[in-house]
Amino acid sequence: MSSFPEPGPDVARVRAAQRLRGELWLPGDKSISHRALMLAALAAGESRIEGAGDGADVRSTAGIVAALGATVERVEDDGRTVTYRVVSPGADGLTKPYGILDCGNSGTSLRLIAGILAGLPMTCILDGDASLRGRPVARIIEPLRSMGAELHARRNDSLPPLTVVGHTPLRSIDIATPVPSAQVKSAILLAGLRAAGRTTVREAVATRDHTERMLRARGVPVEREDARDGRVAWTVQGGISVQTVDERVPGDVSAAAFWLVAGAIHPDAELTIRNVGVNPTRRAVIDILRSMGADIEERPLAEGADDGVGEPVADLVVRSSELRGVALGPADVAAAIDEIPILCLAATAARGTTVIRGAGELRHKESDRLGGIAAGLRALGGRIEIDGDDLHVEGGTRLRGTATDSLNDHRLAMTFSVAGLVAAGETTIGRPGAAAVSYPGFFDDLERVRA
Ligand code: S3P
Repeated sequence: MSSFPEPGPDVARVRAAQRLRGELWLPGDKSISHRALMLAALAAGESRIEGAGDGADVRSTAGIVAALGATVERVEDDGRTVTYRVVSPGADGLTKPYGILDCGNSGTSLRLIAGILAGLPMTCILDGDASLRGRPVARIIEPLRSMGAELHARRNDSLPPLTVVGHTPLRSIDIATPVPSAQVKSAILLAGLRAAGRTTVREAVATRDHTERMLRARGVPVEREDARDGRVAWTVQGGISVQTVDERVPGDVSAAAFWLVAGAIHPDAELTIRNVGVNPTRRAVIDILRSMGADIEERPLAEGADDGVGEPVADLVVRSSELRGVALGPADVAAAIDEIPILCLAATAARGTTVIRGAGELRHKESDRLGGIAAGLRALGGRIEIDGDDLHVEGGTRLRGTATDSLNDHRLAMTFSVAGLVAAGETTIGRPGAAAVSYPGFFDDLERVRA
């Protein structure tokens, strides 16, 4: 039996599980939930968002949308998803908030909302917790400045708090993102809505395209141009109003990833994960695990068929698997940016070596995830080396339970907890409450699937 002192435990204890069985319903996709709230603020009228994630990050965005003058009503569904009803005066009716806009732990809130504020005639300050204050913002300051907004940040314009002095209208630009980042791309496209003319963002490798799909669904045309070398250009026409829509948010594939790996590496497992978003720009973790030999069955759900506007959805079934190591490069890292920690755990159980090249961006997440994942997995007996921006994981290790620390990072908290299901004896996870940033109910689900 594992036990978690409640509430707000500082340490979670997870013992090796005999078997894993069950059916899981996940929190609504975090990326889509953020965007649904933000686009609801830009659209005049009432928007309904069903199945939104109820993690702390999405709540931060809901709080900011309310602070900007929209009415936000939140109705709890099942403890991990919520329905939001947002009534907004639309982009032109949003008002200057009292006080700072608190993004908490959420980089997506900070960066995307900065893009929105860049085109509004007001001055706002975006801030957050200690982790967020350590995350880079120059990557959005530079493009938004070149569109005509004024932005300032701490430490020579590198770290939050971030002040945004908006400008209407903005200048349209044609720009390449400095790093593969859906947050940077989205900030520029959202600012582009308030620019005169066409704004184009070019990315060296494709990142998640939820903003683009969701703008299309709200009456704003977004063009996509693919180059042969994998580069993608996105163009939005400024001055077109965002329309209200009712959104159904699918389950979060980044949350599903923890169960996909748990099921694949545990010797006696069969888990069914319902209603998972399998957008082509988000599903890399499923395909990477399959290429490692994971037995993952995908049952597409008709109502989420892929039309380039909505989000494709599927039920997933994972069973115990014999994994083999894999070689991943920078495009895989961009496509599975949030799943690299849990993929490293999968790699410890695989036959052979896994190499992940070009993973330096993980240093700039909710923690230094490169250092954090290596420290935790090494403590558990894993063989993992960081070589510059590359990770090397030797497979075939039998993990032993020990003390690990989440570094207050939700994805590390959940990765080490899943490790605890397969490691011999007991694993403790320091600061496990971080999981609630994206997956409230994670530890309840963990208890349920091992029962
Ligand atoms: C996100 C994009 C990613 C990801 C984050 C959510 C988004 O960040 O890590 O959890 O919703 O756009 P970057 O685009 O900065 O890599």
